Amino acid sequence: MPVIVSNIQAQKVSEITVRVNQRINTVPASMWGIFFEDINFAADGGIYAELVKNRSFSFNDPLMGWKWISKDEGKGDGRLYNSGDLLRPDKRYVRIQSTSDNGSYGLSNEGFRGMGVKKDAGYRLSVTARNVDSDIAANLVVELVDSTGKVLAENQLSGLTKDWEKYEVILKPVKTEAKAQLNVFVKGKGLVEIETVSLFPVDTWKGRKNGLRSDLVQLLADMKPGFVRFPGGCIVEGRELATRYQWKKTVGDPAERELIVNRWNTEFKHRSTPDYFQSFGLGFYEYFLLAEDIGAEPLPILNCGMACQYNTSELVDMKDLDPYIQDALDLIEFANGAVTTQWGKLRASMGHSEPFNLKMMGVGNEQWGPQYIERFKKFNSALKEKHPEIKLITSAGPGPDGDRFTYLWDELVKLNADIVDEHYYQSPTWFLKNASRYDAYPRKGPKVFAGEYAAHSKGQADPTSRNNWESALAEAAFMTGLERNCDVVQMCSYAPLLAHKDAWQWNPDLIWFDNLKAVPTPNYFVQKLFAANKGSYTVSVLKDKEVIAGKDSVYASATIDETSKELILKLVNISQKSVPLKFSFTGGSVKSQNANMEVLKNKDLSAWNSFSTPLNIGIESMKVKVSGRSLMLSLDGNSVNVLRIKL
Ligand code: AHR
Repeated sequence: MPVIVSNIQAQKVSEITVRVNQRINTVPASMWGIFFEDINFAADGGIYAELVKNRSFSFNDPLMGWKWISKDEGKGDGRLYNSGDLLRPDKRYVRIQSTSDNGSYGLSNEGFRGMGVKKDAGYRLSVTARNVDSDIAANLVVELVDSTGKVLAENQLSGLTKDWEKYEVILKPVKTEAKAQLNVFVKGKGLVEIETVSLFPVDTWKGRKNGLRSDLVQLLADMKPGFVRFPGGCIVEGRELATRYQWKKTVGDPAERELIVNRWNTEFKHRSTPDYFQSFGLGFYEYFLLAEDIGAEPLPILNCGMACQYNTSELVDMKDLDPYIQDALDLIEFANGAVTTQWGKLRASMGHSEPFNLKMMGVGNEQWGPQYIERFKKFNSALKEKHPEIKLITSAGPGPDGDRFTYLWDELVKLNADIVDEHYYQSPTWFLKNASRYDAYPRKGPKVFAGEYAAHSKGQADPTSRNNWESALAEAAFMTGLERNCDVVQMCSYAPLLAHKDAWQWNPDLIWFDNLKAVPTPNYFVQKLFAANKGSYTVSVLKDKEVIAGKDSVYASATIDETSKELILKLVNISQKSVPLKFSFTGGSVKSQNANMEVLKNKDLSAWNSFSTPLNIGIESMKVKVSGRSLMLSLDGNSVNVLRIKL
C-alpha cells in the first residue's frame, strides 16, 4: 500500500481548518439508506431468487414464459385449465397428456430473460402435481438445458399420486449458463396435471429456502444502510388503484399471494410483449426480514388513496379512505404488535415472534396537489392518535422546486409534518450547484428525507445514459452538503437501486445485474463510502471561515466517529487537476500517523463499470502521512477521498 507523503509541488495551496473539538450536528443512525422498488426486474427476476417465470400460470397471459415442447419424437396434448374459483381467476393449472411410449411431451419455461445457473451448484425444483390416470405410473422428468438445448442437469419425479402434492428434487448443472431454460416432461405415456413449478438456487441469502439472491443482498449489506425504504416508488401507487401495492396481499403463504401486473410493465422500450408482474414472493414480511438482516431500519411506504399521477391519477373518494388508513394501522400491528393480536399473530406464524420495531412509515409516494394534503390529513390524525411513536414521511412531489413543491412544503409545515420526502433526478451540474441547498433550510419544522436522487446526464429512458463517473462525482459533492446539514436532512437514498441489464425501464441505477453477476456502479461506491464512514457527529471544515462547497473545485465535510475516535474527512475534487490542500486541526490532538484513505478516481468523466470491466472504477485504499496538527494533501483530479485520522 503506497504511503502518500506531501506530494505538493509549486501549486497554490488552499488552507483548510478543521475544528476537531466543535461538535455541530449528530449524524442520525439512519442517515444513508437504500430505496428498493420493484422496477427493472429488481424483485421477480432479480433479488427474489425464483428462476421460473409465471410459476403458477397466473399472469394475465397464463402461458407467458411457457411453451409446449416434445422430445425424442414424443407426441401429446397440452391444455390450460382454470380451477373454477371465481374469486381467484389466477388459480390455474396445466394438463399434460403424453401419448407415445418412448418420447416425452411437456412444457418449457424461459425464465426471466433466461435462467442463470452455476456449475455444480444445487437448484431445488418443486412441482405441485397429480397423476390423473391412475392406470399409468406417470414419470415426470425435469431438465435444465442451455441455449442450444444441451442438457445441463436432469432428474426424475416418480410416484405421483392422484392428489395434488408437492414434489422436490435437486438439479446440479454440469456447466455454468446465463440463459438456461427448464423443461418439464411426461416421459412415455401418462396424464399429469401441474399447478406450480418453481426453481430456486439452494444457496440463497442466509440459506433461507426459496429466499433471496445472495450476491445482490450481500452488496446491499456491504453498504451498511441505515434504512430500507420499500416497496417503492410508483409501484406503491399503481397505474390505477386496483393495481396499487396492498401489503396484506403480500404476506402469509407465498403460494397464496395473488400475482398482479407490475406498474412498470408497459414501459419496456425494447420488448413487444410486456411480461412484468409481481408475484409477491418478496412481500412485506420478507422486506422486514431483509431490513433486519442487514441492520437497517424498515421504512414501508403505503398507498394513500391515490394512483400514480403520471398515469391515471385515480383517487379514492374521501368517504372511502378508511380501509387505506386501516391498512396502515394494521401494518403497525403486523410489525410491532404482540403475538396475541391478529396481525402480530400472522407475523409470528411466518417465523418472527419478536417485533420488527417499526419506527416510521411513508404516507403516499410521490404525490402532489390538494388531493394529497386532504388525504394525508386523515391519515395523520388517525395514525398520530393511535401511534404517536411512528414518524410519518410525507411527499414533496416529483421535483426539487416549483409550484407543486412550494405548495406541499407550505401545507406540510402548517401540519407540523415529521419528515418531508424530496426527489431529484437532475443533471450533474444541478447536484454541484445544490451542494449548499440545505445550508439555508429552516432549522425548525419538518425534517427532510432525500428519498430519491440520482444525477442524470441524459433522459432516464435513454439506453446510452450511464452510471458514469461524472454523475457519481457530482452526487458525492452534493452528499457532502447533505452530511453537513444532517440536522435537517436526516435520511437519504439513491434511486432506483437495482436493474437487470436485459429488462430495465429506468437508467441510471445503483447496481446492475444479469442472471449470474452483479456490477456495482461508481455511484454505488460513493454511497458505500459515505455510509460506511458515517461518523457520530459533524465538525466544521472551513476555508477562510466558510464551508467548502465548490471552493477551488473542492467539496468537503467532516465527522467524528466516537467509537473509533477518528476524524473522518470526505473530500471531493471535481476538477481535472490535482488540488493541493493544507489542513490545520484545531481544538484537538491529532497524532502523527499513517492514516487510512479510501479513494475513487478517474480522469475520464465518461468512465463507467460495465459487465466486462466491472471494477473500472472501484475503491482504492492507501495511507497518508499526517504529522501532528497539520496535513498536506494533494487531491487527485476528479476524485472522492475519505480519510480516517486517529485522534
Ligand atoms: O425511481 C423511479 C421512480 O421515480 C419512482 O418509482 C418514483 O417515485 C419516481 O418518479
